[in-house]
Amino acid sequence: MTDPKQPVKLLVLPGDGIGPEVVREVGRIIAWLEKNRGLTFELTEDLVGGASLAEYGVPIRDEVIEKAWAADAVLFGSVGDPKWGHVGFDKRPEVAILKLRQELGLFANLRPAKVFDALVDSSTLKPDVVRGLDIMIVRETVGGIYFGNPRGIETLPDGSKRGINTEVYTTSEIQRVARVAFDLARKRDNRVCSVEKCNVMESGLLWKEVVTDVHAREFADVELSHMLADNCAMQLVRNPRQFDVLVTGNLFGDILSDLASMLTGSLGMLPSATLGAEQADGRRPALYEPIHGSAPDIAGQGIANPIAQILSFAMLLRYSLNMQAEADMIEQAVSNVLASGLRTADIMAEGMARVGTSVMGEAIVRELDKLQAS
Ligand code: IPM
Ligand code: MG
Repeated sequence: MTDPKQPVKLLVLPGDGIGPEVVREVGRIIAWLEKNRGLTFELTEDLVGGASLAEYGVPIRDEVIEKAWAADAVLFGSVGDPKWGHVGFDKRPEVAILKLRQELGLFANLRPAKVFDALVDSSTLKPDVVRGLDIMIVRETVGGIYFGNPRGIETLPDGSKRGINTEVYTTSEIQRVARVAFDLARKRDNRVCSVEKCNVMESGLLWKEVVTDVHAREFADVELSHMLADNCAMQLVRNPRQFDVLVTGNLFGDILSDLASMLTGSLGMLPSATLGAEQADGRRPALYEPIHGSAPDIAGQGIANPIAQILSFAMLLRYSLNMQAEADMIEQAVSNVLASGLRTADIMAEGMARVGTSVMGEAIVRELDKLQAS
């Protein structure tokens, strides 16, 4: 936990595309908190992704990883730029986020999919299916097929090729992410559904066994169920409200969280947190980023939705700084602004007022003023 009198040290990595524009709106919220809530922030900014490739020739520098270790938390925008589509795997802008996850050991990726009442009609699913939806996907992010060995593309004797990736999970990797999921469930509806493919994969079988074991030993008060990943994808569109917390591996989590995000109507709305292990000094490395990408097609036009980035900052306050009241206020302010009818292009609907990035950011700050006064 952080001492409120100490300045909060944040490393801010806006990245590419719309990243810098939406991160700028968080700047307003930070200024508001400093003025109205007696907090002080010490901000350090650096380049990642395509922006870093252009300046330094690498998607992320070791120096930035060190700065991330030194910070209380990392606020990340988004990376990805079609300009770098031709470069090798190790030089893709996306390497910046993968490396941050891996180097800081950020193994638990929290991806909430929550439907705001005001946006219930934005979903492609029927309002009755998604109204009140509040799911938390806990995705493992430093293991599994993303990082397993062997990997690569090899040439066979006949000249044809063979692409290889390996799904690997160890007991301890599964235990620690399961604990995060069970802990979260206790603060929510107390239910965890663990997702794998134990019918075809040994790593899935182990996953199920280990989650079952952690549950029995440490979290017997939480309701646990298991589901195959394919069925889970189907259930998420059939009846998503049956879920509270979902816990799953890296690849299934990547896919299912994109799926879940669309239940809410807009990728532009969804934040995420990625947490590491608690260190000897009690600190816990953590990174906060919107689920959406860099959206190069709309970058620089001032029309991107800053809400996912702002809600990611609210998660930062909640999970890294234990500032629940401030996090609640920001989430409430967003909800009020949506209820008042303001919409960015991605969530625009008939009869609503279409606004750009900065007007949306300003409106959220004005709502914070009202909440503070009330
Ligand atoms: C995500 C993204 C990343 C992932 C990419 C950018 C490497 O899709 O955070 O979901 O696959 O983990
Ligand atoms: Mg993804």
